[in-house]
Amino acid sequence: MARFPELRLRRWRRTPALRGLVRETRLAAEQLVAPMFVRLGRGLREPIGALPGVARLSPDEAVAEAERLRGLGIGAVILFGIPGRKDDTGSEAFDDAAAVQETTRQLKGRVPGLAVMTDVCLDEYTSHGHCGVVRDGDVDNDATLPLLARAAVSHARAGADVVAPSDMMDGRVAAIRRELDGAGFARVAILAYAAKAASAYYGPFREAADSAPKFGDRRSYQMEGGNRREAMREVALDVAEGADAVMVKPALAYLDVVREARERFELPIAAYNVSGEYAMVKAAAANGWIEEKRIVLETLTSIVRAGADFVLTYHAGDAARWLKEGA
Ligand code: PBG
Repeated sequence: MARFPELRLRRWRRTPALRGLVRETRLAAEQLVAPMFVRLGRGLREPIGALPGVARLSPDEAVAEAERLRGLGIGAVILFGIPGRKDDTGSEAFDDAAAVQETTRQLKGRVPGLAVMTDVCLDEYTSHGHCGVVRDGDVDNDATLPLLARAAVSHARAGADVVAPSDMMDGRVAAIRRELDGAGFARVAILAYAAKAASAYYGPFREAADSAPKFGDRRSYQMEGGNRREAMREVALDVAEGADAVMVKPALAYLDVVREARERFELPIAAYNVSGEYAMVKAAAANGWIEEKRIVLETLTSIVRAGADFVLTYHAGDAARWLKEGA
């Protein structure tokens, strides 16, 4: 076995060409998924204070943005809906005429090369801001399942390629699979937000979607961040219920969970580089404290290195542009 001074790891680092040969993790635009907030209307682009560079878009603007992203090689978008009205059961979530459904139809018609994912959850749509039907001060798991399944079928009817339940109810993947198949949507894939922590990193998203819970918090359904074994049980259950891919969320504070899921399971794994992670980078960059481009590419590379096949990130458009320019 060679050792220093015969062995020198710096030999492969000497030139860009040599480094390129031995690069282990390659980031590509096609593995990035851009989140989009959509609401009904025309020509709307409402900036979101806590997410600089991200706006709430009307369907026509979402199409224009998606065309741009597709041109940069981005693989998919994931849509989050801003409803016109909120109510107790979040009924706009399963309204075929609502923003996510309308945007999905337009995207599938006009940007055919792009995969469309939809977030399936009720929190943006409920007046109380929780991810399901509230009874006796808590979210009623089993009463929520049929509503989630209805939302998923409504998204599928609009043309969604992938539906992504983010509610963390027990049994939702099986309930959604059953309804999708029963309605003739066997081709639609389920990306389960499997290991989703009750995280402070979702703060900016809740401003964007006006979805902060009006009472209490989400700890009776989202996971405690410190529980790695429980995260693996969540993943295993979603796999058993028929998930086509599983997600770990947030990404950066949970890279060990991504890695362990990668080692234990064969199906595709996604990680969500969430709104708070994005906002911190944007704030530091705006202050000139960090180099945004290098930080973003390093961050996304680390998520892929940990084992994610694809990454949901608000940096998607910028990262794709930087990858195209050559890092
Ligand atoms: C729920 C949902 C949330 C996010 C994605 N889906 C918010 C929450 O659970 O409170 C957060 C995403 C982010 O912070 O970027 N529909």
